[in-house]
Amino acid sequence: MISRHLIDLDTMPLEEIEEILDLAKVIMRQPQYFSDSAHGKIMASLFYEPSTRTQMSFQAAMLKLGGDNIGFDNPLNSSVAKGESLKDTIRVVSNYADIIVIRHPLEGAAKAATMFSRCPVINAGDGGHLHPTQTLTDIFTLLNTKGTLENLTIGICGDLKYGRTVHSLIKTLLRYKNNRFVAISTKELGLPDYIKNMIKNSGCDYIESDSLEDSIGLVDVLYMTRIQRERFDNESDYLKQKGIFVLDPHKLKKAKYGLKILHPLPRVDEIDYEVDEDERAVYFEQTEYGMYARMALILHLLGNSAKQLEPLKESNLDKKCGNPRCITNSEHYLPKLYIKQEKGYICEYCEHTEQ
Ligand code: CP
Repeated sequence: MISRHLIDLDTMPLEEIEEILDLAKVIMRQPQYFSDSAHGKIMASLFYEPSTRTQMSFQAAMLKLGGDNIGFDNPLNSSVAKGESLKDTIRVVSNYADIIVIRHPLEGAAKAATMFSRCPVINAGDGGHLHPTQTLTDIFTLLNTKGTLENLTIGICGDLKYGRTVHSLIKTLLRYKNNRFVAISTKELGLPDYIKNMIKNSGCDYIESDSLEDSIGLVDVLYMTRIQRERFDNESDYLKQKGIFVLDPHKLKKAKYGLKILHPLPRVDEIDYEVDEDERAVYFEQTEYGMYARMALILHLLGNSAKQLEPLKESNLDKKCGNPRCITNSEHYLPKLYIKQEKGYICEYCEHTEQ
């Protein structure tokens, strides 16, 4: 099976992910051989939420491949501001573009976009749900700096509740052998239940910690994340969480020599600027690896785009998703899609579990 879209890396076979990473490595070594590979192709980047890295690395990736970009980085400058639905926007844009990259504040929006698109869709972040191309970036960084995706103890620190990069990364690293996780967060910003259940069901070792200082010596990889002001319902809840976990040179003294520190960025205050000078900090290299990973992904999906769309299987449950941040609660024409579980149902757009 080959993938037409990239919405969740979990639905992509490992061999296909490895094919993309292998291609990224070849491109990184000899980018000049790929400078015409997407000549005549157009990428539409539809950013309903702010972005620096994801948007610009995709655009740089397409330009380096010889293709072109269209799109918006502020939906208020598009007909979204006049009330155009996601469905209509995607139907129109997929008449102009060969590939669509979409970032949206609502969970499941990228999946919804695939239902109306004539071309491949890439999820560049859907609310607090998933960010699969950040995960491609992260695992490509780990391969290049750590040399492996197996037998690692990975500390993940910060906003584990709304951190879409965290959810995507854990789901992917669970598929590689013998990885262990240390989840470092406050109680309020711990991992969502569906991710905890996935970890438990995989049989992988997992501990929770509320202290970065006490946990840092255990880990081979430390994945720092920002407390995301934009995901909170009110400012006072955000202020209670801000500044609790800060990586500084003092804490780093307790870390392993071979530690690699990653961060999807942007950073606010969770990593002291002095840490940037430590050779274990690879978060700026990570941004460059991301561009090569995205070049490889674009070429891979453009090559797969002749594949027929899979027929939509609608749910016969007449129920509303209980997650207020799910795209189905704003775009009401979307078909209901649920997967039956032993106890209840999972919404296929946002993975919210209903009992
Ligand atoms: N890592 C990441 O998604 O960064 P941006 O929000 O700047 O795209």
